[in-house]
Amino acid sequence: MLLAAAALTKTYRLGRVDVPALRGVDLTVQRGEFIAITGPSGSGKSTLMHILGCLDTPTSGSYRIDGEDVGTLRGKDLARVRNRKVGFVFQTFNLMPRLTVEENVALPLKYRGGMARPERRKRALALLERLGLSDRVGHRPDELSGGQRQRVAIARALVGEPAILMADEPTGNLDSKAGANVLDTFDELHRMGHTIILVTHDPNVAARAERIVHISDGVVV
Ligand SMILES: Nc1ncnc2c1ncn2[C@@H]1O[C@H](COP(=O)(O)OP(=O)(O)OP(=O)(O)O)[C@@H](O)[C@H]1O
Ligand SMILES: [Mg+2]
Repeated sequence: MLLAAAALTKTYRLGRVDVPALRGVDLTVQRGEFIAITGPSGSGKSTLMHILGCLDTPTSGSYRIDGEDVGTLRGKDLARVRNRKVGFVFQTFNLMPRLTVEENVALPLKYRGGMARPERRKRALALLERLGLSDRVGHRPDELSGGQRQRVAIARALVGEPAILMADEPTGNLDSKAGANVLDTFDELHRMGHTIILVTHDPNVAARAERIVHISDGVVV
């Protein structure tokens, strides 16, 4: 089992009001699976994804990723697991505007430390080639199309060889052609053996996955 979440809850506190976003989610993912998490707006998809991606912590429940118990980790310890185990792709790409494509992709390796610049560069370029971006490595993000930006973000997510690739509405800011292209990229990565979790409210996007997990009002249905 690559990922095992049990009885996860998340309650946001807004002033004096508790907002229960997750109300007991169980989810397991095997290595090599491609799953889509789908459900209506406000159902808790992003909240769940942020916990699974070690970007946020649950209020209660347990969570293991690649054998490591992360449900109770906080701060630096959680960041270390996130950096090693998870590659995250955002709806809005979140690339660094002043860095080149190549520098953006190599950045997680720089943060992680312990790898010399030529090796970081080599890995970034190899991934960019795999994603069909070899002719754009010296460009800045604002010189790329939306689909190209998202493929750069995917390369950045993969450069650290994470156990799992996660994406929250990765096609949400793309037109249908660029979106289809990004989905083809996920298909190809899945065929190559990558484990992928994708969040989407779009049934057509969810249909591309091997397994669909429906979430409604903070629980899996
Ligand atoms: N930081 C926050 N503080 C307070 N409440 C929040 C916060 N983030 C999310 N929520 C609430 O938690 C619930 C779940 O939100 P979440 O963002 O996980 O939904 P979602 O399924 O991703 O929706 P969408 O499809 O619109 O992105 C919602 O009721 C939302 O208002
Ligand atoms: Mg969301």
